[in-house]
Amino acid sequence: MKIKSFDEYKQVYQQSVEQPEQFWAGIADNFLWRKKWDKVLDWNFKEPNIKWFQGAKLNITENCLDRHLETLGDKPAIIWEPNDPQENHRILTYRQLHDKVCEFANVLKNNGAKKGDRICIYMPMVPELAIAVLACARIGAIHSVVFGGFSAQSIADRINDAACNIVITADGGYRGTKEIPLKSIIDDALVQCPSIQRVIVLTRSRTPVSMIKGRDVWWEDEIKKVETQGNTACTAEEMDAEDMLFILYTSGSTGKPKGVVHTCGGYMVYTGYTFANAFQYNQGEVYFCTADIGWITGHSYIAYGPLSQGATTVLFEGIPSWPTPGRFWDIVEKYKVNILYTAPTAIRSLMSFGDEALQGKDFSSLKKLGSVGEPINEEAWHWFDEKIGHKQCPIVDTWWQTETGGFMISPIAGVTPTKPGYATLPLPGVQPVLVDENGKIIEGNGVSGNLCIRFPWPGMLRTTYGDHNRCRTTYFATYENLYFTGDGCLRDEDGYYRITGRVDDVLNVSGHRIGTAEVENAINMHSSVVESAVVGYPHDIKGQGIYAFVVCPKHHADDDLTRKDIMMTVSRIIGAIAKPDKIQFVTGLPKTRSGKIMRRILRKIAEGDTSNLGDTSTLLDPAVVEEIKAGAL
Ligand code: WT7
Repeated sequence: MKIKSFDEYKQVYQQSVEQPEQFWAGIADNFLWRKKWDKVLDWNFKEPNIKWFQGAKLNITENCLDRHLETLGDKPAIIWEPNDPQENHRILTYRQLHDKVCEFANVLKNNGAKKGDRICIYMPMVPELAIAVLACARIGAIHSVVFGGFSAQSIADRINDAACNIVITADGGYRGTKEIPLKSIIDDALVQCPSIQRVIVLTRSRTPVSMIKGRDVWWEDEIKKVETQGNTACTAEEMDAEDMLFILYTSGSTGKPKGVVHTCGGYMVYTGYTFANAFQYNQGEVYFCTADIGWITGHSYIAYGPLSQGATTVLFEGIPSWPTPGRFWDIVEKYKVNILYTAPTAIRSLMSFGDEALQGKDFSSLKKLGSVGEPINEEAWHWFDEKIGHKQCPIVDTWWQTETGGFMISPIAGVTPTKPGYATLPLPGVQPVLVDENGKIIEGNGVSGNLCIRFPWPGMLRTTYGDHNRCRTTYFATYENLYFTGDGCLRDEDGYYRITGRVDDVLNVSGHRIGTAEVENAINMHSSVVESAVVGYPHDIKGQGIYAFVVCPKHHADDDLTRKDIMMTVSRIIGAIAKPDKIQFVTGLPKTRSGKIMRRILRKIAEGDTSNLGDTSTLLDPAVVEEIKAGAL
C-alpha cells in the first residue's frame, strides 16, 4: 500500500486516475472484510449519491484492534500523556485497548444502545475518549463527538439535530491550569434535550457533579457490572460498508453547523491508506498528533487511521504551553516520538516563546513532521524545519477537510518533494481541479482558482445528517459535477498546489473552523445588539482573528463592559473559541440598496487597509464607511 519513490508516485497517480476502481479495490484489499464488495463504486455528484464498496461487510474496530492481536497484541496502541506531567502516564497495548473497548461496548448495550443509535461524546482527552468512540463503532452505534470547548447550547443543538439517546462524558477535564466542568455543561445542555435517556459519566477530575437517578450512571460502576456479569467479550457488529460510522458537526457559511456523515468502509480504507502513505509509517514508530479527538484530525489521525495501521499513537490531554512552552518537546523526548503532526497556529505560538524553550531538549528521535488546519506561512515552515526537524525531517503539509475524511493534497514523507507553504501534490486517487467563477476548469500551471474535486474518493462525506439537500447545495451545486471545497488555491509553475484560504464566509481561527454567520447570530442574541457583521483579519498567532462590527445603540454601561458582555454571550451560545478578538461599535453597516452587507469593505477595514476600498457606488449610505474607517480598532 505504501509508495516508495517519486517515480512510483507518478506512475501510481496516473493509474489511479485512469482506473480508479481498480486502484481503490487494490488498496481496500489491505483491510479485513467479513465479506468483500460486489461493486467498488457507484456515484453521481448531482444528488449526490456516493457508494463505495457496496455489498461489503466489516467492522472498523476489527481492523483497528482484533486483526493486530496476534502480531502486535503487546505493542502500545495508545500512549497517554496527562495534562499534569507529575501525574502518571498510561500505556494501552493493542490487547488492553481491545479488551477495554469490548467491555465498554457491553456497557453501552447494557444501557440500551443499539446499532444505528446516535451517541454524543463530550469528553476530555483521556484514553476513555478513544475507548468510547471505538466502543460505539464496535456495536454499530453512530458517534457524534463534540469538542470539549463547545458550550451547552452548541451541545444541545448537536444532540437534538441527531436525536441522540445517550451521552458519554466525564465529571471534568483539565487543560493547562483550567478545569472544565464537563458534566455540569452537559446538565445545562440536557435541559433542552428530550431524546437523551442515559448519561454515562467517567470520573476524571472528581469534581462534585449532580447525578440524576434513572438518567446518570458512572462509567466505573457500569464496567464493574459487566465484569461481575462475566460479560466482557463483545463480538463486533457486522456493518455494511455504507452504514454510518459517525457524524461530526462543522461550520459553514450559514448560522447552523452541519452534521458531516462518514460511513464505515470508505472512511476506514481512506484514513488507513492516507496515514500509512503520507507519514510513511513504519512498524514500531511512535506517532504524536497534537489535535483533539473532538475534531476530524483526531478522529482520522489519532484514532482510526493510526490504529488500523497498528501504529503507536500518543494522546495528550493538555496544551502546548503548560506548565512550560517546552511541553511538546518534553513529550517528544519522553516517548521518543518519531512523527509529530501539529498545526501552524501551535507552531507560531511556540515560536513566539523564543529559542529558550528548545534548549536542552532532545529532538533526535524525530523523523517526520506534519502540519494541518490552515495555510502554513513560510516563516513558521522554516522554523519547524530548522528548529524542530533540524533539517532532517520532511514536513508533510496535509490539506484536507472534515468533509474529505482524510488527506487529499499532501507530500508523501521522504518520497515526494516538499515546498514551503505548499501542500504540493494530490495523493493518488485524488483529482483536484481549479475553476473560475463560472465553474470553467482552468487548465495548465501558474494559475489560481477555486479548488474542486472532480472524482469521488472513499473518505468523502456522504450526506449532511438529516438534510441531504443541504449537502447538495453546499458542496455539489456551486459547480456542476464537482465537489466544491470552499478553498481558494494556486497551482504554481511546477504544478504544486498552495491553498490560499477560504473563499466563503468561513473563518479559520487557530485551526478551528468558525462561520461568520454563526458568530453574528450569537452576538445578535445580546439584548442591546441590533445587528452585527463579522469578518476575519490576519492574526500573528491564530492565523485569523475575529473582528466584529456591532450596532448597539442603547447600551447603558461603558463600551468595554458591553464588549465583555457580548463576548460572554458568544461564549454561552457557541463557546470560548468563537469570541471576537475585536469589537467595534458602529452606528450602521455598509449595505447595498438591496440590503446586503458589503463584507468586502469591512474585511479591508479590519485588515487595516483602507487606501482602496474598491467600488462603493452601490452603497446605500457611503457616510457609514467613513465613520467605520475613523473608528477602526
Ligand atoms: C479547512 C478545513 C483538515 C483537518 C483540520 C481542519 C483549511 C486544512 C490545510 C492546509 C491550508 C488548510 C482549509 C480547509 N486547511 N488544512 N494544510 N493548508 N489550509 O479541518 O475544520 O474541516 O477545516 O481548513 O481552509 O477547507 P476543517
